[in-house]
Amino acid sequence: MELASRQAIVVLTGAGISKESGLETFRDEDGIWSKVKLEDVATPEAFQRDPALVQAFYNQRRRGLLAADIGPNAAHTALARLERDWPGPFLLVTQNIDDLHERAGSKKLIHMHGELLKALCLACGGKSPCRSDLGAATPCPHCGSEGQLRPDVVWFGEMPYQMERIYEALGTCGLFVSTGTSGTVYPAAGFAGEARQCGAQTAELNLERSGNGALFSEGRYGPATQIVPAFVDELLSGAV
Ligand code: APR
Ligand code: ZN
Repeated sequence: MELASRQAIVVLTGAGISKESGLETFRDEDGIWSKVKLEDVATPEAFQRDPALVQAFYNQRRRGLLAADIGPNAAHTALARLERDWPGPFLLVTQNIDDLHERAGSKKLIHMHGELLKALCLACGGKSPCRSDLGAATPCPHCGSEGQLRPDVVWFGEMPYQMERIYEALGTCGLFVSTGTSGTVYPAAGFAGEARQCGAQTAELNLERSGNGALFSEGRYGPATQIVPAFVDELLSGAV
């Protein structure tokens, strides 16, 4: 993969990049959506209908993410190294709500589906760090309202965050890389087509070819902890 070092790189990640860190994906055999219905826990209607069930779902995932044995893996670290050492502009867009990219050192990062370790107040719109369970009595640190906090996670039917900034980056990048995502959920699933239309090279790094694999000029398949560091090494050594 040849890329002029002044060119911009945009990387999109999905749940697959965190799998080898011990976090579940959504649509693999043993994925989250094989155990719970997304309509019951990941829509605004679900939260209206049964807030306790939705809070319990995210409380359990938050506790899992904060467990002592969970941490970034070689793929997260490689992307942080690419951000640090790539001479041109760089942006990492993740669909993941975990903080493993941050823990690996990534800074130029957009969480388009929100963050598990943040809470959003329905009363004042304030966001706050959240590292413990949310419940019906949890007070908002900004306005004090009780039971008005929801996970700051973008649910199905809601608008992902910072889409303008993402599309602007897709329209001006020389390379778009998608890794650890099944390419089934829009708007993220449309990013490869967007970048391609603007003349970018596109690469998919995934355990297996995804649904929109045909949109990529390059495909590298295998576990993220192997193929992502190798691809980063290639980019950095080949930066012309
Ligand atoms: N290395 C690389 N890729 C992997 C690995 C691995 N070790 N394990 C799994 N994968 C791949 C799978 O092959 C699959 O293509 O990661 C992808 C995971 O796909 P999904 O489970 O659909 O996760 P994702 O694409 O991130 O889902 C997108 O859907 O439910 C919503 O909001 C949720 O952000 C999520 C969005
Ligand atoms: Zn508030």
